[in-house]
Amino acid sequence: MKYGTRTGNPAKARTQCAIVGVYENGQLSPSARVLDKASKGYLRKILKRNDISGKTNQTLLLHDVPNVGATRVLLVGLGNEKSMSSAKYADIARTVIGKMKATSFRTNLCCLLEVDVPGRSIEWKTQKIVESFEAGLYSFTEMKGKPPVNTVSIESVDLLLDDKSELETVLNGIAVGNALTAGISSAKTLGNLPGNICTPTYLANQAKQLAKDYSSITTKVIEEKEIEKLGMGAFMSVTRGSVQPGKLIVITHKGGKAKEAPHVLVGKGITFDTGGISLKPGGGMHEMIWDMCGAASVFGTMVAIAEQGLAMNVIGVIAAAENMPSGDASRPGDIVKTMSGQTVEILNTDAEGRLVLCDALTYIDQFNPKTVIDVATLTGACVIALGSHASAMYANDEGVAADLTKAGEDSLDRVWRMPLWEDYQVQINSAFADMANIGGREAGSITAACFLARFTKKYRWAHLDVAGSAFKGSGPSKGSTGRPVSLLFEYLNNLAA
Ligand code: BES
Ligand code: MN
Ligand code: ZN
Repeated sequence: MKYGTRTGNPAKARTQCAIVGVYENGQLSPSARVLDKASKGYLRKILKRNDISGKTNQTLLLHDVPNVGATRVLLVGLGNEKSMSSAKYADIARTVIGKMKATSFRTNLCCLLEVDVPGRSIEWKTQKIVESFEAGLYSFTEMKGKPPVNTVSIESVDLLLDDKSELETVLNGIAVGNALTAGISSAKTLGNLPGNICTPTYLANQAKQLAKDYSSITTKVIEEKEIEKLGMGAFMSVTRGSVQPGKLIVITHKGGKAKEAPHVLVGKGITFDTGGISLKPGGGMHEMIWDMCGAASVFGTMVAIAEQGLAMNVIGVIAAAENMPSGDASRPGDIVKTMSGQTVEILNTDAEGRLVLCDALTYIDQFNPKTVIDVATLTGACVIALGSHASAMYANDEGVAADLTKAGEDSLDRVWRMPLWEDYQVQINSAFADMANIGGREAGSITAACFLARFTKKYRWAHLDVAGSAFKGSGPSKGSTGRPVSLLFEYLNNLAA
């Protein structure tokens, strides 16, 4: 969709629909007041009838409001003025796009930038509106036999400015929002594509295509032969059971000075996780098409920063493999040597994410990273602990933890910090090898993070367990959420500023 700007009297705008807010108890927003005045009190009259009280997310569509240029006026409830919050604002934007989608007006004037949100700039609001509207418009239709008839014909949304002086800020907010959206959408689509299409090879090809699309990006794909030669015994132990060759994909965005150390993102890219010989039960197994959502979020973040032209060096690494049972698959009890030299006793082949990640996390040492963040749908235990609202965050550095927490609050793509205490480390001790790949029933997300912590001592690092936040396995909004692209994008942008 195209976003533009408009200044001046909103009552004069010729558009198919003007979107204006009303607070609880019929209190009008500034633009609503202007429309009310132009129509000689029509809005207030309607509000007195109590068809809409102004509670958050209520809507009412009015036609032919006297002396107003817009064919329709969509009133949207903003709730109590004093309790407006960032989350509410985004929620209201989601409601508005839901309504717009259902009615599909070609041209729209959105008068919501004037709404005060505590602590938020006009740029933040602009970006949030673009991000929320585009999220509402996203649909996954790639796998339909025929391209579906497009019922949504919204062409443009103009954002109403208080004043011309806001123009540059708002235009920048639109551009950044569009860049972020490109990243989120590509993460969602990669996440949603099934295991028979989105293989490690597919991911590698998409990454190669990125290098063609963006001049800031170069892609290197490390094939199994090389992976083996590098001594990545843990990575190989996962991919060996599959006919699909595993790939280590390195996507480099050069936006900063040539010698500047990069920030590194590492994603778990298990394109399908059967559990391997420790086979998962059949019931929910199809959900494991989303076991590459960590990788998809790294990919999406690279898209967003390349699109934006972020002035910073960032490397995205994707550990892509399929976890299959076969005559050549790893057995429970196998012991393998990781690239770091440490050995691992594989007590459960379904704890495969940490096995591909630990070698990727060792591989990136050579980049001398400023910070490293890995993203993984790592444990079912994380879903039990935090549900879908927060991603679990673990960090070996207070600064990185604080930066991610703040980025989470600002992007509304939140994290909750979990402990990485030494106390938990004993759970993954092994009698035969240097460590086991599982730590028992208790604290499953934490012991998985403890495993990764043994490979990340050389740099400032955080781990995000996104098993609960990255996708919805069922229901009307089933599919990848695109998280945590917003979080990572915000994190990198804050560091660049
Ligand atoms: N990919 C799964 C974790 C997962 C579960 C992600 C549900 C999203 C939703 C991971 O590879 C896995 O199987 N983990 C095991 C670890 C266990 C064997 C220690 C788990 O969580 O059961
Ligand atoms: Mn698994
Ligand atoms: Zn997995």
